[in-house]
Amino acid sequence: MKFSNDFLFGAATAAYQIEGAIDIDGKGLSNWDEFVKIPGKTFEGTTGDVAIDHYHRFKEDIKLMAEMGLESYRFSISWPRVIPNGVGEVNQKGIDFYNAVIDECLKYGIVPFVTLYHWDLPLPLERKGGWVNKETIDAFVNYASVCFNAFGDRVKHFITFNETVVFCGHGYLAGAHPPGIKDEPKQYFQATHNVFSAHAKAVLAYKELRQFGDIGLSHVFSPAFSVDDSAENRWAEQHANQFGINWYYDPILKGHYPEYVTEILEKNGWMPEILEDEKQALIKAAPLNDFIGLNYYQPVRVEKILGEAESVEHSRQNSTGAPGNPSFDGAYRTVAMADKRYTKWGWEISPEGFVDGLRLLKEYYGDVTMYITENGLGDEDPIIEGEICDIPRINFINDHLCAVKKAIDEGVNVKGYYAWSAIDLLSWLNGYKKQYGFIYVDHNNNLERKKKSSFHWYKDVIDSRGENLNYPA
Ligand code: NOJ
Repeated sequence: MKFSNDFLFGAATAAYQIEGAIDIDGKGLSNWDEFVKIPGKTFEGTTGDVAIDHYHRFKEDIKLMAEMGLESYRFSISWPRVIPNGVGEVNQKGIDFYNAVIDECLKYGIVPFVTLYHWDLPLPLERKGGWVNKETIDAFVNYASVCFNAFGDRVKHFITFNETVVFCGHGYLAGAHPPGIKDEPKQYFQATHNVFSAHAKAVLAYKELRQFGDIGLSHVFSPAFSVDDSAENRWAEQHANQFGINWYYDPILKGHYPEYVTEILEKNGWMPEILEDEKQALIKAAPLNDFIGLNYYQPVRVEKILGEAESVEHSRQNSTGAPGNPSFDGAYRTVAMADKRYTKWGWEISPEGFVDGLRLLKEYYGDVTMYITENGLGDEDPIIEGEICDIPRINFINDHLCAVKKAIDEGVNVKGYYAWSAIDLLSWLNGYKKQYGFIYVDHNNNLERKKKSSFHWYKDVIDSRGENLNYPA
């Protein structure tokens, strides 16, 4: 039951959630630096101003990761730290910081897996229309090229974007992420298309440099399953997957959009503007993607909304990931089911849904190389006699790693697994209360780090290459 020797066992973080130091050493402000200051946007007004101060403590953190036996560390680069205004001058101190992080990883033999965009857009670009403005595409390609040139000699795995559906969906439908716009499907689809174009152009730029590394992007992977066998709910399942999976994966892997979706967009006046050079870039870049990253937390159970389309009132409340909300088009709703298990935040726990979802992806996209770039349990960890006993997290990761192994044995091409998260961090809208890490950060005691039970457990898993996982009978 061992994972192959070239399978990477890793863990992940993102810049805004850990670094702090938001205006130090020449860093420009990001859309998030501003957004979190708007009253009511985040849990108890928490911000990433200090976060877990990784900017000053990265050596200590990476040393702990090495002690845990981590083979690879996925982290993101803050665009405004590298190019403070989004375009124009490069901030050498920002480059120096990430060089130091990368070198620290390499010192311990940890493979750096770098995300270029994990949601923190330079504020001047957000002010000019963010991802709806096509100028952001060129700005991103320029920023990506700066990163390839600065770090590509040592970084051989690049992820362009993290979870387009989340930052565009929350940004233009739910109003829960920057720029905080609600119920604007036209802008939502335009933003997603601009992101895919930026991705494709960055892939082409990367391949031209001949750095001989791998590049791809990470999507949320939330496969939809019908709540029952009825024809209408089966319809809801395929409708949800067309919008939630195919709209996101087809342009990257096939170089064009799914017709099922474009027909609906045309009918509703939601079709994005697609320029000829963007269309060509998508077609040319599609076969050059080296992998697709999947962030899997939960599947969605769906049922069709019968009769009149439900009016959709989006808010921070219904962008929490918990079921019970209508889709943006009022066609179906997500449902919590009595026979399923849920986390404290109402997210379904379903390793079975993971295997089924991976099978579905193989059906859609064949042998594409995949990395699980995020998977983990958000919880409030119990502290017993000073020890952080995160047993539910151990069980969760155990079961999901077993699911990955099962899929691999069935021929799904998964090359690595990154637990979310390496260390406790800021959970965007949920503050520091929702914990995901193997390492605890004490917010009442100078951000002191402490190993959790899962830290020791994950080390054993890595040491045994998964042989000592508790596989289902
Ligand atoms: C996905 C995001 O990439 C990450 O930033 C976030 O904290 C986790 N999901 C948990 O919600």
